[in-house]
Amino acid sequence: MLQGISQLVTNDPAVGEGPLGLIGDAAVVLDGDRVVWVGPRVSAPAADRALDLGQRAVLPGWVDSHSHLVFAGDRAAEFTARMAGRPYEAGGIGTTVAATRGVERTELLRLARLRVDEMVRGGTTTIETKTGYGLTVPDETTSAAVAAESGVDVVTFLGAHVVPPEFDGDPQGYLDLVCGPMLQAVARYVQFLDVFCEDGAFDGAQTRRVLAAGQRAGLGLKVHGNQLREGEGVRLAVEHGAVSVDHCTYLSDRDVDALAGSTTVATLLPACDLSTRQPPAPGRLLVDAGARIALASNCNPGSSYTSSMNLVVALGVLQCGLTAEEAVQAATTGGAAALRLPDVGFLAPGARADLHVLDAPSYEYLAYRVGMPLTRAVWRRGARVV
Ligand code: NIG
Repeated sequence: MLQGISQLVTNDPAVGEGPLGLIGDAAVVLDGDRVVWVGPRVSAPAADRALDLGQRAVLPGWVDSHSHLVFAGDRAAEFTARMAGRPYEAGGIGTTVAATRGVERTELLRLARLRVDEMVRGGTTTIETKTGYGLTVPDETTSAAVAAESGVDVVTFLGAHVVPPEFDGDPQGYLDLVCGPMLQAVARYVQFLDVFCEDGAFDGAQTRRVLAAGQRAGLGLKVHGNQLREGEGVRLAVEHGAVSVDHCTYLSDRDVDALAGSTTVATLLPACDLSTRQPPAPGRLLVDAGARIALASNCNPGSSYTSSMNLVVALGVLQCGLTAEEAVQAATTGGAAALRLPDVGFLAPGARADLHVLDAPSYEYLAYRVGMPLTRAVWRRGARVV
């Protein structure tokens, strides 16, 4: 039993107050990898062991539904050039593809595990990662296998990230590979398929082709859309029943309406917007329109080299116009919806025992004390990991 909880965010309005299901002076009982009881400390059942958390807030662990952890090398020089005025372009991905192809599988696994560990230390307990820096059948298969072994919860196939140099001028030839032998080779490691719909990556017709192949393979669908300008990404994602469309930085009124009338989650990546000097994604507009949103880190070496979900939640508030309550929900239940995982993102009986203890009395401190080291302890699948 964990007690000494000043504020428990359950995300279950049936067990606590308001949309976050808040319980003051709370206790949580864990059994193995599950939560078995939550409620006020005074009515807690007997437990084998009790730990006092010293009057700190406890939240469900973050659900980071968008990251790219399987890569080698860095792009610090590209970042520096960008801060000096160069725009972010999809083409930079090629630099990481070359570096990733150049290292052994064991090294890729070591790097991916380091990044998973870094995420967990920041309070993230559910992690999605994508392939997308291999872009040959053997390199994408290695990336998918490494991802599956690295300690993440969900793996997404992103063969359609960009057209690699050996297919320069022949995007259809590359997509023959992606939609055929590559998809077949990675299928046993992945749950979702993703496609980057953007100038410099894949256009609307090409995106449709990739999504149709994913559908035939029985994978859940995701789209990188509307990152650098308005485009077809959001509309195609909604049309294909994609589980999420990620970025959503540049949205037309039609895009917002389409998202609001759909089950597709709009996944906002504010650390990426910040790091690429784009405007913040219109979180307020989306929530007011009735769209379902998630917040995620997009940790990758090009556009967002951070996995700090504490920062992402703060940026959701400070940059995207969300309330602290909405940002916390987007980074927990929103992420779970974007991954179709029914047992994470909340703390109530039956949930996975994933807990994030803050060095603060309430969740509001995440944005209020932006940049401060607020992660005090973390339980993942019932085991204390921080
Ligand atoms: O989500 N947009 C496409 N993919 C990544 C960027 C990857 C990179 O620049 O290496 C993203 O931002």
